Amino acid sequence: MIEIAGLTRRFGEVTAVEDLTLSVRSGECFGLLGPNGAGKTTTVRMLCSLIAPTAGTARVAGLDLMAEGAGSKIRASIGLLPENPGLYETLSPRENLAFFGELYGLSPSESRPRIDLLLDQLDLTKDRDRATATFSKGMKQKVALARALLHRPRILFLDEPTSGLDPFSARIVKDVLLALKKDGTTIFLSTHNLPEAEELCDRVGILRKKLLVVGTPRELPRRLPRRGARLRWQDGFSPDLRRLTSLEGVRSLRVEGAALFADLDEPERRIPSLVDELVRQGARITFAGEEVPSLEEAYLELIGGAA
Ligand SMILES: Nc1ncnc2c1ncn2[C@@H]1O[C@H](COP(=O)(O)OP(=O)(O)OP(=O)(O)O)[C@@H](O)[C@H]1O
Ligand SMILES: [Mg+2]
Repeated sequence: MIEIAGLTRRFGEVTAVEDLTLSVRSGECFGLLGPNGAGKTTTVRMLCSLIAPTAGTARVAGLDLMAEGAGSKIRASIGLLPENPGLYETLSPRENLAFFGELYGLSPSESRPRIDLLLDQLDLTKDRDRATATFSKGMKQKVALARALLHRPRILFLDEPTSGLDPFSARIVKDVLLALKKDGTTIFLSTHNLPEAEELCDRVGILRKKLLVVGTPRELPRRLPRRGARLRWQDGFSPDLRRLTSLEGVRSLRVEGAALFADLDEPERRIPSLVDELVRQGARITFAGEEVPSLEEAYLELIGGAA
């Protein structure tokens, strides 16, 4: 659905995106993560044919970005929630959306009920006839999302879809995106919100000018070399730490009350020997499990390491 090959964009001396190669399959939700200035917005804008790449190309919805006349066809077949909403501020949400509906070639009889439905889903019905100039940042963001969805695009690009939204509105937007995903819409989003990426995305990529790593939100943190385990036992037991530390594969140990945190080279292999040794020493184990770093920890480590 989206095939990116060697995509590069320079602004004068600054290289914003360098040699990005990536495929996003039909129906997939892909999340682009990365620090401020990493090139996420530049990537989205290139894929939506709003700015031209300096080198490389991409196929979006079967169209080659660099082919003659492809830009307007791509823009017509995708939905985009840009970084800044870009609404006509003197117009109300309904008027804004009616205007864009016309641009997308929808007749008023098609677009009117669709607009009202989207505004209702996004909890904007009571504000639908007020000029958007009077709207808060989050309200404008939601109108822009309705605009992106108006023509039922099969590919949706979202640049930080929940930035500036309160938790309630963010939940609404995430539910809308989950429903679209269920319907088979291909979603390409950028976000700074890592729990959101974990919830929505089938795969994520961490960009810092170059694409540093791609993987599922669950599997990426497991690639970190730092792995560990947590064990707990019933009160009234003190372990012999010397013997535990001498077990193979144990890098370090820390005891806090009736719990032990271990830094291990291969947790899945070392946890059973730790449990065996603790039981031998007389512990009654109540919990033993691998400590997998979160996507946030993985992100911080990767970005820190790449600095
Ligand atoms: N129109 C432009 N002219 C000059 N430089 C630009 C332009 N657009 C982006 N850049 C530069 O390209 C780099 C990437 O910017 P971009 O907006 O893509 O980052 P981002 O990952 O979206 O960041 P953020 O998380 O802050 O939104 C930055 O160094 C930025 O200054
Ligand atoms: Mg950006």
